[in-house]
Amino acid sequence: MPVTDGAISEFDHHSEEFFDHRHEEWMRQRRCPVAHNPHYGGFWVVSGYDEVAAVSRDGATFTSKYEESSPDGIEYLGIMGIPRMPGVPPALIAEVEGPTHAALRRLLNPFMLPSAVAGYQPFIEQCATWFLDQMISEGRMDVVKDFANPVPAILTMKMVGLPCESWSYYAEVFHSMNAHGAGSEQAAHARSLMDAMIAELLRVAAERRVEPKEDILSRLVALEIEDGRRLRDDELIGVLWNLIGGGLDTTTSLTSLTLHHLDVRPELRQKLIDDPDLLVPATEEFLRFTSVNETLTRTVTADIELGGQQLERGDFVLLSWLSANFDEKVFDRPEEVVLDRSPNPHLAFGVGPHRCIGMHIARAMFVAMMREVLTRIPDYRVDREATRFYRGNPELAGVVTMPIDFTPGPTVGVERPF
Ligand code: HEM
Repeated sequence: MPVTDGAISEFDHHSEEFFDHRHEEWMRQRRCPVAHNPHYGGFWVVSGYDEVAAVSRDGATFTSKYEESSPDGIEYLGIMGIPRMPGVPPALIAEVEGPTHAALRRLLNPFMLPSAVAGYQPFIEQCATWFLDQMISEGRMDVVKDFANPVPAILTMKMVGLPCESWSYYAEVFHSMNAHGAGSEQAAHARSLMDAMIAELLRVAAERRVEPKEDILSRLVALEIEDGRRLRDDELIGVLWNLIGGGLDTTTSLTSLTLHHLDVRPELRQKLIDDPDLLVPATEEFLRFTSVNETLTRTVTADIELGGQQLERGDFVLLSWLSANFDEKVFDRPEEVVLDRSPNPHLAFGVGPHRCIGMHIARAMFVAMMREVLTRIPDYRVDREATRFYRGNPELAGVVTMPIDFTPGPTVGVERPF
């Protein structure tokens, strides 16, 4: 792994300093879009838009596979960070390749395509209205815990086929784990809840084997993969872990960070209130600007040149969607939110064979939640003193807690949707 002069990146992506100055750091990195970082055993940092897109499109050379000890002598890192977060199941959609990955995508597509999302639309809107109804007469709420967290959590429960009433339990596990970073007390607490969560998932799976329903879990327990065999329990947990983790906290972060930005830039909020159609292009712009899934990882399967550097089989790669989405070669004034930015080829959902399968659902949930806030509590003000952002998680950005005040309004009175 010879590194050309200057292609060295010094940052420690788990440090507070990196976290606080990461936009400046990524800007510096983009001058050398593929560079080697010596921390954590050494890895390549890919920060330019073209290079990030090239890596993620070439899933054969830059694999997402996770396999601790493989017969071919490589350690396959998977996608979940350098170093990998200990004690969590592998994400067995994002971290598998080949026929099993294709079979899982085929199984999930009917639940994820725009036609399916159109079917969920009334439920999503009803959830958004109902949760705001619970708080609107108060004039104050924690917009993360009371609104942006439950709506995506309940939809995910419903799609997968889990009891919707258990949403807060699943949401707590993922929110605590994502919000505070691998070594924190909160992440350890979240991991301690996992055994009970896994037992509950397997209990519901056993019910679906006996009595299938129209949900993802029923299809998963019946799925035949290689050699016509069914998924083992540990594989089933890995798939569900990926699906629930993907569905739960990501759209929550997108919505919370957007609401925060619209508090800092009230003139943008006013534009969205005056012209509700603007929310469609603005959704893409907030996806780009917030880039909530900031980084993920890959393993190199064959020697290859990338961005003037020679990468070798077995090397690890840190991909920055965040940096790609701020690449000034592709986006004019990237540090600014331009509500009607066009074109907007952002990589917030990734690109290539592992592109986010939940992207249409994420957009629909975000739009529904934003419409609800902008029409019913348009004068909300963020309590910035009390707001806490995720810290120490290089993969995911988000907001732990964000109290808002607003003029109390009437309830709509929709039925409880779950
Ligand atoms: C703002 C919301 C979201 C963002 C920014 C986001 C981001 C991403 C990104 C960047 C990837 C690509 C991973 C890679 O290439 O390695 C991905 C994959 C994935 N996402 Fe999302 N996601 C979001 C919402 C969702 C939702 C709502 C679901 C489920 C309902 C979901 C489920 C998944 C799954 C299962 C994968 C793995 C796909 C595969 O490997 O084939 N995501 N997501």
